[in-house]
Amino acid sequence: MAEPTDKMESIINLCKRRGFVFASSEIYGGLNGFFDYGPLGAELKNNIKQAWWQDFVHRRDDIVGLDSTIIHHPTTWKASGHIDNFTDPLVDCKESKMRYRADQLFFAPVIVAGETIGYVSVLEDEGMQAKAEELANDLKRKLAKPGALEPIKLKDYTESTPEQYALIPSPATGKPGSLTAPRSFNMMFQTYVGAMQDASAVAYLRPETAQGIFINFKNVVDTGRVKLPFGIAQMGKAFRNEINPRNFIFRSREFEQMEIEYFISPQADWQTAHRDWIEGCLAWFESIGIPRAKLSLYPHPQEKLAHYSKGTTDIMFEFPFGVQELQGVAARGDFDLTQHSQVSGQKLDWFDEAGKVRFIPHVIEPSVGVDRVFLALLTTAYHEDEVEGEKRVVLKLPIRVAPFKAAVFPLVKNKPEIVERAEALYRRLKKRFNVFYDASGAIGRRYRRQDEIGTPYGITIDFETIEKGAGVTVRNRDTLEQVRMTEDEVVRFLDEKING
Ligand code: GAP
Repeated sequence: MAEPTDKMESIINLCKRRGFVFASSEIYGGLNGFFDYGPLGAELKNNIKQAWWQDFVHRRDDIVGLDSTIIHHPTTWKASGHIDNFTDPLVDCKESKMRYRADQLFFAPVIVAGETIGYVSVLEDEGMQAKAEELANDLKRKLAKPGALEPIKLKDYTESTPEQYALIPSPATGKPGSLTAPRSFNMMFQTYVGAMQDASAVAYLRPETAQGIFINFKNVVDTGRVKLPFGIAQMGKAFRNEINPRNFIFRSREFEQMEIEYFISPQADWQTAHRDWIEGCLAWFESIGIPRAKLSLYPHPQEKLAHYSKGTTDIMFEFPFGVQELQGVAARGDFDLTQHSQVSGQKLDWFDEAGKVRFIPHVIEPSVGVDRVFLALLTTAYHEDEVEGEKRVVLKLPIRVAPFKAAVFPLVKNKPEIVERAEALYRRLKKRFNVFYDASGAIGRRYRRQDEIGTPYGITIDFETIEKGAGVTVRNRDTLEQVRMTEDEVVRFLDEKING
């Protein structure tokens, strides 16, 4: 089995080799932080979105959907606080021209026998403590300082003082004196609407889909026949000019979100609603094939809450590069509706018929990135094993999200009865499910090609199908078990596996 870093490399290679994910604009050298989804990636991504929409919109009575624009009236972002607060702390290395997020750059003084002999710096990752200790020992050796090295206590660069800026080495060069003080960098992409390119025409690509929901709150209440508590769900593109896009599609500059704003009465117990949503999201992840054992919770400390939040818990996933945020579940109170109401001058409230009172509802927001779910599914599904003495890569994707639900193979391609039967079954299945047809190469090789892209079943039409009326063979990707069934049974079998 591949080691964690190798595993990421193997997955990235597989994504490129088999057409899941490509670097965007690859023929021009790529564009950092942007990715294109190839034929198989587009299928997997659509299946994730479809599962989410089915489970949270179609199968519930209390959530309706929305599809708002990517560019809103620019005042939206003033009211929401994004123009003032949607910033990351940026630090530059003047020598190497590298840019870092200051909260992902860690430093510590190197103290030997009570004396500070210099500083070390490392970039945030799982092994940063060990790396910092190694650098500190190197420095102690280089300066030939006798005595005990005190424990290395890392802090992030936002906690550094002006006196320390000149002393902390750049992670790029290892030399002190080239890092700037941290400064705020707004992550929204700007554009212009209309022919004028002046301040009056500035607009922004949305950095989250959520605000499209809040600014449509009144429209949905007036038209949607909703009753409190209720949710509005939206999925779509979001854009953030991330300082440091990294870990493949985990942190990119253009990505997709699936967000719900779930409105509750201000009298309701928001902590219970928040907890229920966290549990509901954990259960959903499990239902689509992300194991509970790889998920954990990170409640944000009060002092680190986003400007809109009363409480946020991140659902974390054990990615090969470390435990990182998969989803945020925030209790946003009445912050957004109040802000938009005040700035627009429109009443964005709810009239409670029973109590004959008006109030601004509070909101719980589960928000997840499609691309992160995609990566969590791929890293869970990726396995290397051996079949009949041959190494195989297999994606054990659940059928609901797998790009192809089955592949149809004629055992040989020079026997017209076998080929015709296989093509007929393929055409019949294709009316209902996304299936693949492959007639070329040894049957073992064809199975392997499908294993690698996560196709759960391989259906083979062989001599016995034709000569003995024995039905077709259905091979299970994970157990390798083969069973025979009729073509009618195959249709019912797949339908049951996909739709339950
Ligand atoms: N409306 C709330 C909101 O946007 P967030 O924690 O900033 O909250 C929600 O983002 C989710 O969107 C994250 O949990 C993550 O899954 C996804 N996400 C955020 N930034 C991302 C990025 N740069 N690349 C990929 N996904 C991202």
